[in-house]
Amino acid sequence: MTTPHLCRRRGPLRGAFEVPGDKSISHRAILFAALAQGESRVRGLLDAGDVHSTLEAVERLGAQVRRQGDEVVVVPPERLREPDDVVDCGNSGTSLRLLMGVLSAVPGLSVLTGDASLRRRPVRRVIEPLRRMGANLWARDGDRLPPVVARGGPLRGVRHVLEVASAQVKSAILLAGLFAEGETSVVEPAASRDHTERMLRRMGVPLAVDGLEVRISPGRPRGGEVDVPGDVSSAAFFLCGAAALPGSAVTARAMGTNPTRTGLLDVLREMGARVELQRERESGGEPRADVTVKSAPLRGITIAGPLIPRLIDELPIIMAMATQAEGRTVIRDARELRVKESDRLASMGEALSAAGARVELFEDGCAIEGPAPLRAVSVKTHLDHRVAMSMAVAQLFMRSGEVALDDVDCVATSFPTFFRILDRLCQEGET
Ligand code: S3P
Repeated sequence: MTTPHLCRRRGPLRGAFEVPGDKSISHRAILFAALAQGESRVRGLLDAGDVHSTLEAVERLGAQVRRQGDEVVVVPPERLREPDDVVDCGNSGTSLRLLMGVLSAVPGLSVLTGDASLRRRPVRRVIEPLRRMGANLWARDGDRLPPVVARGGPLRGVRHVLEVASAQVKSAILLAGLFAEGETSVVEPAASRDHTERMLRRMGVPLAVDGLEVRISPGRPRGGEVDVPGDVSSAAFFLCGAAALPGSAVTARAMGTNPTRTGLLDVLREMGARVELQRERESGGEPRADVTVKSAPLRGITIAGPLIPRLIDELPIIMAMATQAEGRTVIRDARELRVKESDRLASMGEALSAAGARVELFEDGCAIEGPAPLRAVSVKTHLDHRVAMSMAVAQLFMRSGEVALDDVDCVATSFPTFFRILDRLCQEGET
């Protein structure tokens, strides 16, 4: 199904909002709970399509899941069992990649697939390291693309040196390491998000971090309580919108502030926005805070190197915001953007250029010259939730003019309440 949507809102953005649960942490909470000894209770779980994919997958593997008040309770099986049907991960790359690590070790045959977008995303980067551990995994198109087939069996610990910083690849390997004989380690070229490491350690798994290397020994996590913070990648749309729209001030309540995820706050500050953190606290091993961003004249900056994995999912909305900054914003070392839910450099480059922005694309990034007045545009979202939400916010940067999105169903994969919150922040901005 595709639902077109016409955006014709007016800024500024004002007010406070609850940020929906962090998607990365939600996936991990459910999957690790399904592997654990003893039940787990998860508070603040993201209620969105991608996480539903992980919930359905763990049920197929034998876990029981029930809602109890505002918590989700996961009761793991004694042992994960062979799924009795194909496991459909929908649009969720994280579900697919993390499950590959687990299913390499679950006796029996498993098939993992997903929607048209997911079936275009690379899996060889996960298959190759897992094979070195003894995994039997295959995929379509010479092991390049899903569907993926796994025949679970014994694994052995191996030291892996990754070419790209990827939390999904790192996590798939660490999960396989839970079942392997001997120690498994992963070395990344730059730090990607460390939610897997934090959560497994809290669940009692022997895991050591030494700079960019993570080592894990086999073990079974212990069930427990998880309190999921708000997702910075969802809050980002309103924080960037507010930074660029004169007269705006928004507060994201209980937003996750894990330093492997807060590259956006560094960028907002460097571009000139006013950023304040209040009520900084930690719960369940993950820090959070109420984060306020107020508008200010923005200037173009360079975003590259180790900063990139710390804001990889925020780059589409950063590109939209950069059209309103004075001068040149340059993004480099972000080739990974080309293999997300869509080729995000191409999708955003196409949408913003058609709206009148000055965007030059490189193989690994782009340069955006601002400020540029934007005009009405029709946008192809390419089944990519973050392209849809970024262009819905870009519409606010137009003096008049509408943005026609060809499909907004994809938004429900990560942020079903996005348009409701956007409407409310615009309404509060009017008063
Ligand atoms: C994720 C890791 C990131 C990110 C994705 C979620 C995760 O991908 O883009 O949306 O939950 O591990 P990488 O594997 O490229 O780091």
